[in-house]
This record gives sequence, C-alpha cells and structure tokens, in this order.
Amino acid sequence: MLEQIKILKSEVEEQVSSINDLVGLENFRLEYLVKKGKIQNLFELMKQAPAQEKPIIGKELNVLRKFAESKYDEFKAQFEDNRKTQPSIDLTLPGRLSNIGSAHPVYQVMDDMLTIFTEMGFAVAEGPDVEDGLHNFDSLNFPPDHPARDMQDTFFVNVNNSNENSENSENFVLRTHTSPVQVRVMKGMKPPIRSVMPGRVYRNEAINARSLAEFHQIEGLYIDKNVSFAELKATMMTFAKKMYGENSKFRFRPSFFPFTEPSAEMDITCFLCGGKGCRVCKYSGWLEIAGCGMVHPNVLRSGGINPEEFSGYAFGFGIERVTLLKTGIDDIRLLYENDTRLLNQF
Ligand code: PHE
Repeated sequence: MLEQIKILKSEVEEQVSSINDLVGLENFRLEYLVKKGKIQNLFELMKQAPAQEKPIIGKELNVLRKFAESKYDEFKAQFEDNRKTQPSIDLTLPGRLSNIGSAHPVYQVMDDMLTIFTEMGFAVAEGPDVEDGLHNFDSLNFPPDHPARDMQDTFFVNVNNSNENSENSENFVLRTHTSPVQVRVMKGMKPPIRSVMPGRVYRNEAINARSLAEFHQIEGLYIDKNVSFAELKATMMTFAKKMYGENSKFRFRPSFFPFTEPSAEMDITCFLCGGKGCRVCKYSGWLEIAGCGMVHPNVLRSGGINPEEFSGYAFGFGIERVTLLKTGIDDIRLLYENDTRLLNQF
C-alpha cells in the first residue's frame, strides 16, 4: 500500500509540472482530487489494510492529498491573476470603421467665407427665413410694382391658412435674399456697422444646372462716415482673392438693385471652361458671384440711420455658386441630392 502511495505521489508530481493552463489544471483536478479520483481511491483501499498499518497509510495519504490540493490552489490563483492582467480583447485586431459625418460642402464653404470676413472685422448676424413683405421688399426701396414681388419669383406664405387673397397671406414671404437682414441689423445697432449675414433664401425659379429654388447667401453690410465705392471694391477683391487664390480673375459690371445706388455685380472667370464659354457660364466665360453697391439713402432711412451723416456699402454672395467653383462640381442640383458617394469626397 505504501508502495502504491509512493508511485501515485511521483505521478502527481510529474503531472503538476506539466500543468500550464486552466484546461490542464481542470484535468488534474478530475484525475486526482474528485470523489472518484485516484487519491480518494487509495483512501477506499486503506479500509482493507491491516489495522496497525492504517495510521501510517492514512498519514501518507493525507500528505499526498494536501500536496495535490495546495498545488491545485496555487495554479488556480496564478491563472486567474493572469486573466485579470491580460486584456480580454485583442488590441492588435484592426478596428471597425464607423461612418463619421461631416459638414455639407455648402456649409464648409459658408464657414470658410465667414472665417475670412470675420478676420476682416465683420461680425456675424442672422435673420428669419420667413420674412415680412416690409423687410423683404418695402424697406429695401422696392417700388410697389416691382416685378420681384411677382408670384413668379417669390414664395408667399399663407400664415393664417385662410383664403389666399387675405391680407396676411401677402404679408409674409420666404425671403428671396438675405438683404432684409441688413435692415434688421441697422435697426438693432448704431454705426459703425460691419456685419455679414449668412442664410438660406428661396425663389420660385425653374431648376437647372445653375439655379435652384432654394439656396444660400452671405450678405455684407458696412456703414460708417464717408464710406466709398473704392472701399467696397477693395473689400470684395480682398475677400475673393483669399477665397479663390491670388491668380483668379474678377470683373465688376454696372447693375441695378433697388436697395443700392450705384450697383454692380462681381464676376469670376468660369471655372469649367476657363473663360472660353460653356453651359455653366451661359457661354459668356464669366460667372456672377455677387451683387453689391452703395446702400440707398432710403434703405438707411428704413433702418433708422441718417443718410446725411452716414453712408455704407452692401454685398451679397451666393454660396452654392462659390461651392461649385471650389469643388469643381458642375451641376448645382448635385449639392441637394445628398448622394453619400458625392458627399464623402468632401
Ligand atoms: N440681394 C441681392 C440679390 O439677391 C444681392 C445684393 C446684396 C446686391 C447686397 C446688392 C447689395 O441678388
């Protein structure tokens, strides 16, 4: 019997030295430490041993059992410790990519434009998209019979939801430009005023590669004593060169707006044909990017500013046009289809 214990002891010692993971440890337990295990088996056999030998056999067996149990506990503690310090995820695996959104190209361009203007000293202001006829037209010196008021250009808003011809339904419009914000800014502060006013505008126009019924503008307004047209031109040129690069070409053309006098439009060489003439520039080689002019005295008056004392200039850039120039997209409609294959590129 003592011989058997000795053999089992060396077997246990050998097994112990080959345990190197939790699976091996569990096999060890099943082999030696459970009720039907090899050590317990010898305790069963001990019952048949002569009475005087039982104490020695019992003692030896107990030593063996304690040894096996302590080894088992030792390994278990060690493996569990390892588990705690080893991360349960494999940090070397490639990560899962999630789709992160980004600002729409139109808003990226708007941000760039605003950054340039704020660096030049302009503050940013905003006004409502649903505007009253007073701000959108009257206070901007539109004569009562001006064609821009016509149903063909303007989306009228039927505020009280009643009969279309009621007075209220004609009093509100989706603003056709950001110029009404000029008047709101003038009413809200005293000169000197240096503001840029970004926002969405709406026109009841046929949709094609160059124009949409809904687009964005940045309005600019500068009011102080003795403001000159030369300052307007210099400001717009400085902005445009920062936006498009030193080598881009511009021209000013005389134009007409009821709210500025004199008025002009600023053109840039067509990005698509380089000035040769194409579908996008209507075969003129030039693209109109802004309207501008000296603020009409009547508009200063509607804003509560004395035209005898102050003068000012104003300009309005279309943002979509600029976005096309910047991105090289040649059809304005693509900007609103929101196809992620296009948007992902910016
Ligand atoms: N509001 C004009 C437009 O929408 C642009 C403009 C703004 C012109 C300011 C002159 C001064 O076309």
